[in-house]
Amino acid sequence: MRKPIIVGNWKMNKTIAEAVAFIDAVDGVCHDGATYGVGAPFLALAESVKHANHLIVAAENCHFEDSGAFTGEVSVPMLEEIGVKWCIIGHSERREMFGDTDETVNKKAKRLIQAGITPIVCIGESEAQYDAGESEAVIRSQLSGSLADLCADCVKDIVIAYEPIWAIGTGKSASVEIAQQCCHIVRDQIEKMYGKEAAEAVRVQYGGSVKPENIVEYMAQPDIDGALIGGASLKVDSFTDIINKTK
Ligand code: PGA
Repeated sequence: MRKPIIVGNWKMNKTIAEAVAFIDAVDGVCHDGATYGVGAPFLALAESVKHANHLIVAAENCHFEDSGAFTGEVSVPMLEEIGVKWCIIGHSERREMFGDTDETVNKKAKRLIQAGITPIVCIGESEAQYDAGESEAVIRSQLSGSLADLCADCVKDIVIAYEPIWAIGTGKSASVEIAQQCCHIVRDQIEKMYGKEAAEAVRVQYGGSVKPENIVEYMAQPDIDGALIGGASLKVDSFTDIINKTK
């Protein structure tokens, strides 16, 4: 039985004070039925980790090298030092704006796993690819690149977020049928790469305009184990609503 996992992705939002205030307000609302968490900007991570007892706190990116001439980057040992246990990698905004590729996402995944930090690996097709009927091919190819050469046992513990780019921040969420179908393809691809046991254990999130009004129907789908939530994770009220609706 897979435990549901719902994570907010704050992106470049919230100062340290704002992050702490949010965590103090929401932490006590969490319950054991699911894993709840937030992806916070680097600067807010250390304080967020200190304030979160029930929420998990994820970095939104990392570099795959431990140190060196990579101006502006943050390494896995730096995250380890402040007690970060989760990290979002390969978000479409990073792939589109900051040059992340399946190859770099794969290197990041390997380094995180080595450190005992759980990667939340994002994949998803663009609107043009969706319109051209290429969703399945894109999902399979992103997964084979991003998750290449991991151990099957490690794959069981990671989280994959299927986020169609056309649904991110647009209010145009994927239909429940499409989301289920694509999350099923994700699981099928994991089975092809790492076997049935890994496929049955891996947690798959849907992301793209998830909000209190639609979370329940996504969660009811057999291959959707949770959600990665941008806009609706920024306000205490809407995130609390999502937590309460997924009890
Ligand atoms: P959204 O963002 O919920 O605002 O669509 C999702 C994401 O980018 O992870």
